[in-house]
Amino acid sequence: MPKHLTIVEHPLVQHKLTLMRDKDTPTAVFRQLLREISHLLAYEVTRDLPMTTKNIETPLVEMEAPTLKGKKLALVSILRAGNGLLDGVLELIPSARVGFVGLYRDEATLQPVQYYFKVPAEMENRVVIAVDPMLATGNSSAAAIDLLKKSGATDIRFLCLLAAPEGVARMKEVHPDVPVVTAALDDRLNEKGYILPGLGDAGDRMFGTK
Ligand code: URA
Repeated sequence: MPKHLTIVEHPLVQHKLTLMRDKDTPTAVFRQLLREISHLLAYEVTRDLPMTTKNIETPLVEMEAPTLKGKKLALVSILRAGNGLLDGVLELIPSARVGFVGLYRDEATLQPVQYYFKVPAEMENRVVIAVDPMLATGNSSAAAIDLLKKSGATDIRFLCLLAAPEGVARMKEVHPDVPVVTAALDDRLNEKGYILPGLGDAGDRMFGTK
């Protein structure tokens, strides 16, 4: 199994992330950078996918050629900010199946409550990549993974753009079997649960809702 936390330190990832963190980066540029960085993160999160071979004929000879093994991957976007990462990852893995998990935070209990859940069939036979740009407290991410496990998924990875130590610790505590891949591990959360130094509200930055 891959290690629990992978930080993608590739120079292109780090450069694009810096541009995304900058508060003066406009929505359209932020969105484009998110798309580009998603490709690079998708490359890393799929690095150890199981492989097999199939017999093909090139124009010259027959060969046993490598190919991905098993059922199509499932990408699961944790709404709404997950959709920004999803688009880019789908460009790299266009035949993946797609699911969505919607959770909101109950302001009285502060616990995540499910309002939408739709995932592909046969989750138990797929590699599942859950995507959410910000792993902050880890509460909603952990709850989303709970739901995916209830749907039968056993091989799950979590892909994000930024992680806080608190979120990584929470995921490790409740889902030690789920590797986390991120572009950076930031310092901490502020009192409102935002990641510092962070990039602000990922949903607002990508959808221009602020
Ligand atoms: N969600 C965000 O969009 N940003 C944060 O910093 C934390 C959670």
